[in-house]
Amino acid sequence: MTQDEIRFEAGPGGLQRAVISTTAAEAELYLQGAHLVRWTPREERPVLFLSSKSLFAEGKAIRGGVPIIFPWFGARAEGLPGPAHGFARTSEWTVESARECGDAGVEVVLGLQSDEASRELFDGDFRLRFRVMIGGELEMELEVSNESGVPFRFEEALHTYLAVGDVRQASLTGLEGTEFVDKTDDFKRKKQGGEGLRIVKETDQVHLNTRGACSVWDPVWNRRITVEKTGSDSTVIWNPWIEKSRGMADMELDGWTRMVCVETANAADNAVVLAPGSSHKMAARIHVERH
Ligand code: BG6
Repeated sequence: MTQDEIRFEAGPGGLQRAVISTTAAEAELYLQGAHLVRWTPREERPVLFLSSKSLFAEGKAIRGGVPIIFPWFGARAEGLPGPAHGFARTSEWTVESARECGDAGVEVVLGLQSDEASRELFDGDFRLRFRVMIGGELEMELEVSNESGVPFRFEEALHTYLAVGDVRQASLTGLEGTEFVDKTDDFKRKKQGGEGLRIVKETDQVHLNTRGACSVWDPVWNRRITVEKTGSDSTVIWNPWIEKSRGMADMELDGWTRMVCVETANAADNAVVLAPGSSHKMAARIHVERH
C-alpha cells in the first residue's frame, strides 16, 4: 500500500474516512455506515450524487453516495421503533484491510458485528463485511454471516444515488415487465411496462424478482451508467421529486433533478432467510460509458 493511494483521516463532523486515489478513479469512504460518498473515474463527472446539504454527524445518515441498508428496508416491521432503513448505515464500521490490487484498483474491506445495541433492535448475531474495489469500475459486495444458533431474516440494499444531468430527461432500462411495489400508491403491486422507465413524479418502487442489470441513460451528460448485480433479487428506484424534497432538511431544493437511486437490494418478498453458520453475498458492479 503506498501512502498516496489511500489515506485515512478525519473528515467533516470529525467522521473518519478513507480518501482513495488511483490512476483510474478517486473515492471517499466513511467508516460510519461503510458509506461510500464519492467514486469518480478520471476525466469523468461524479457518478454518485451527494447532497451539499448532507449532514456529517455521528449517528446521522449521509444523504447521497451509497448508504448500506441492513437489517430492514424502510420502516421497521410491525410498527416497532427503530431507525428507517436499519442501523448499519449509522453504525461505526472497522477497517479489516486496505490494499492495492494492480490494474483493478484499491480494495478496502470494512466490517460490522452485532453488539448489545444491535440486539435491542435485531434478534440475531451477525457479521457484515463490505468490500469495495475502487477502479475504473466500482465493485461493492456486502456479505452477511449468521453467527447465531438460529436462522434469521433480513433485508438489505446498496442504496446507490446515481448522479444525472437532469433526471427528467433520463431513462432507465432493465426493469421492463417486472412486478413492483409502488410505495407512492399505498404499496400497490404493479407491472412495469415494456419501455424504459421515466421519472416524471415522485418515484419509490421496489421491483421484485429481478436480477438483471439496470442502465441509466443520461442525454444531458451523454453517458450511460450501468449497475450489474449478483445475489440481489430486488431493485429499488427512488426519486423524491419536488414536494418530498421540500421536507428533507439535508437535500437541496433542486437536488432531486440531479439524482436517481438504483438500489441493489433484497427487500419485501425478497428478504433473505439465513441459516445459522451460513453467509450471503450481494454485489454490484457499476460502470460508465459515454455515448
Ligand atoms: C428509498 C425508500 O429506498 O429510500 C424510500 O424506498 C425512502 O421510501 C428513501 O424515502 C430515502 O430514505 P431515507 O431514510 O434515507 O430518507
